[in-house]
Amino acid sequence: MDEITALAKRRGFIFQSSEIYGGIGGFFDYGPLGSILKRNVKDAWWREIVELRDDVVGFDSSIIMHPSTWIASGHVANFSDKYVDCKNCKHRFRADHLPSLERCPDCGMRDALTEPRNFNLMMQTNVGPMEDSASRAYLRPETAQGMFVNFKNIYQSARKKPPFGIAQIGKSFRNEITPGNFTFRVREFEQAELEFFVPDDGNDLAWYEQWVHARKKWYGDYGVRQDRLRFHELTSQERPHYAKVGTDVEYLFPWGWGELESIAHRGTYDLDAHMQLSGKDLTYFDEASKSKYTPILIESSAGMDRTALTMLVDAYQSETIAGEASGKETTRVVLRFHPKIAPVQVGIFPLARNKPELVERARQIERGLRPHFRTQYDEGNVGQLYRRQDEIGTPKCIMVDYESLQDGTVTVRDRDSMRQDRVDAARLRTYLAERL
Ligand code: GAP
Repeated sequence: MDEITALAKRRGFIFQSSEIYGGIGGFFDYGPLGSILKRNVKDAWWREIVELRDDVVGFDSSIIMHPSTWIASGHVANFSDKYVDCKNCKHRFRADHLPSLERCPDCGMRDALTEPRNFNLMMQTNVGPMEDSASRAYLRPETAQGMFVNFKNIYQSARKKPPFGIAQIGKSFRNEITPGNFTFRVREFEQAELEFFVPDDGNDLAWYEQWVHARKKWYGDYGVRQDRLRFHELTSQERPHYAKVGTDVEYLFPWGWGELESIAHRGTYDLDAHMQLSGKDLTYFDEASKSKYTPILIESSAGMDRTALTMLVDAYQSETIAGEASGKETTRVVLRFHPKIAPVQVGIFPLARNKPELVERARQIERGLRPHFRTQYDEGNVGQLYRRQDEIGTPKCIMVDYESLQDGTVTVRDRDSMRQDRVDAARLRTYLAERL
């Protein structure tokens, strides 16, 4: 993990937030490559969940909602973790993360930990010029509630009838007691949530199974190693009382299994809760039968920061190879990203940067490919250029050399096999499209 964290900083994937002031716990910034990596992860989710389906509509709700939202949802009363303080070193811990409450894990002092106390994870702010309890509001701890309170607006305006879903990607905030493991547990993060509403016609469990299957396929399609992914079906003790069934998607990180996503059958709990507190009708009116009912909800809620981190960790490999030019043994660090996830898909370089005709030809090829792929022009020592592109996970590199000027061909190097093909530059777009 230390190697990956160092690489993420060195190559511009992820930086600590406000680093020049010493950072702030649980917040991170995505650099030039990291921002594209995360965008690609989000686009891959959106494409699959919204664009390629005709039964899911997109949505984008505000981060701050009416405070009653969080009373109805149960977050004000129950969205808390238990914490303990060490009376000796003053450090604070999440009680359920400690193997025992007998001894402080940091200073080792016996009987120094306080009794566990509740800590609400919602971040607070004030709306308007007054800072009093009447103006108190919360930064949403999940995007889901925006979709529940808008259920009627959405199905009526989009003319949708259950089974149908609402999908949203957006920022959520949780004042985690102990953020950690790089971007795994943070205080500001992005969630991609799907709320799929189904009629109470006996097919709800089949819909749930279908979504578990669809999500399994999605991770596989984007290359996440199957032996590091597991779908853990929750026991009745593990899932909330209203959930009929639930599955956590987990990835084997260097520190152990960590949750990427939760998929749950939530019954009518959420819509019922909002109807009760708001007094507004959020049932679905079925024109055909002239009757109304509260649809059952199947939810899939994935963390985009955790998924981007998974892509990074899963892609990372440090291997010993024979040097491409020298033949001597060397260590190669490579990110084997799926081509759709890789921030740069094609690197293009001239063999020598002091030869204007090579530079011009390489730049021309790069300009031609740019509208179709995520490209990057670079120049310098060839070995170092390949190393750098391997480290940022670029699947294909194109080298323009003297032969290119004579016969119009270029060398295309494959990141994973390091094999080099000679390809006619006029065919590059098709050649790359077939492989990326
Ligand atoms: N609406 C359901 C919901 O929010 P959750 O299991 O609390 O369910 C869903 O959160 C996902 O959001 C998690 O599986 C995780 O990927 C992500 N997530 C939750 N807390 C997070 C945190 N502190 N840092 C990063 N991601 C987080």
